[in-house]
Amino acid sequence: MKILAIETSCDETAAAVVEDGRTVLSNIVASQVEEHIIYGGVVPEIASRRHIEAISGVVDTALKGAECDFSDLDAIAVTHTPGLIGALLVGVNYAKGLSYATGLPLIPVHHLRSHIAANYIAHPKLEPPFLSLVVSGGHSHIIRVDDYTCFETLGRTRDDAAGEAMDKVARALGLPYPGGLNMDRACSHGNAGAYKFPYPRVEGSEYDFSFSGLKTAALNQINSAKQKGEEISLEDFGASYMKSVTVCLVDNTLRAARDFGFKKLVLAGGVSANSHLRRGFEAISQAEGYELFMPQLPLCCDNAAMVGSQAFYEYKAGNFADLTLNACATSAIEG
Ligand code: KG4
Ligand code: ZN
Repeated sequence: MKILAIETSCDETAAAVVEDGRTVLSNIVASQVEEHIIYGGVVPEIASRRHIEAISGVVDTALKGAECDFSDLDAIAVTHTPGLIGALLVGVNYAKGLSYATGLPLIPVHHLRSHIAANYIAHPKLEPPFLSLVVSGGHSHIIRVDDYTCFETLGRTRDDAAGEAMDKVARALGLPYPGGLNMDRACSHGNAGAYKFPYPRVEGSEYDFSFSGLKTAALNQINSAKQKGEEISLEDFGASYMKSVTVCLVDNTLRAARDFGFKKLVLAGGVSANSHLRRGFEAISQAEGYELFMPQLPLCCDNAAMVGSQAFYEYKAGNFADLTLNACATSAIEG
């Protein structure tokens, strides 16, 4: 079964053709990063405009790359939630138009479900049940995945997402957007013990995260060093900070894995590309006997191949939409 998938939830305009949920026939991503760099973050209005300009070319290129036309396809899939509302609407309306014009069924896909599904492409033998940590610019969720379309959120951030907390500190250190990625590039070999940060816990909720205190502690250290004219070692500071974020993510995920008896751990989302996080999970999985799955780096960040993968399982579960489908800025993964 071949599905054309479209993703426009944030600042990547993406389209892909995926066969049977696991084989990527084409995967095209038009990034807008260059447009947003001067603002230090994504400007929603600009993102929507760029999606409108790019989407038809990106979809055509994905179809050509897969050597397909619409008669070869079985469905059209699109990310409809969560994300920037104006950005999501571009993809949703384009997909609805294609579905109406071709008569192909329309499959709505939840963005976090698709991030998890990136692992079905990366690891063709991976099957639920497993425990997943989804960490991106907007989300930090510990999710039990009992089946391809059956999810339960066990823990989540109470304030900033891990990616957001990294992006803001990276910006204060003078690194360009996207901060988390650039901090990882600049600091992955720094001394992670050089600077000390708190390890925040959320009282009464052992799987939830809180990154805003950690972020504020880091920003205070940067500001106070500036005021005193002291130099901060970018490499060591960034490494120490990424280690602190990683410790929080690893600790809570392992607690949930132990409590709920999961031996398979699956990382997903843009922040799962982080070298500290990957090394931290690799070390603990080896020491404690967990089977660890992570997407290859290009599949960690937003792309449409992951949407096409999840869409295959949504199709099999009969989860279709009609032309009243709307975009939604926030919604739970449980659906
Ligand atoms: O999943 P994603 O592409 O978009 C959202 O759904 O938000 O994630 C983007 C986030 C950004 O915060 C970016 O800084 C972060 O992922 N990111 C990283 C790395 N690569 C991307 N954070 C830390 N280390 C990385 N290597
Ligand atoms: Zn994402």
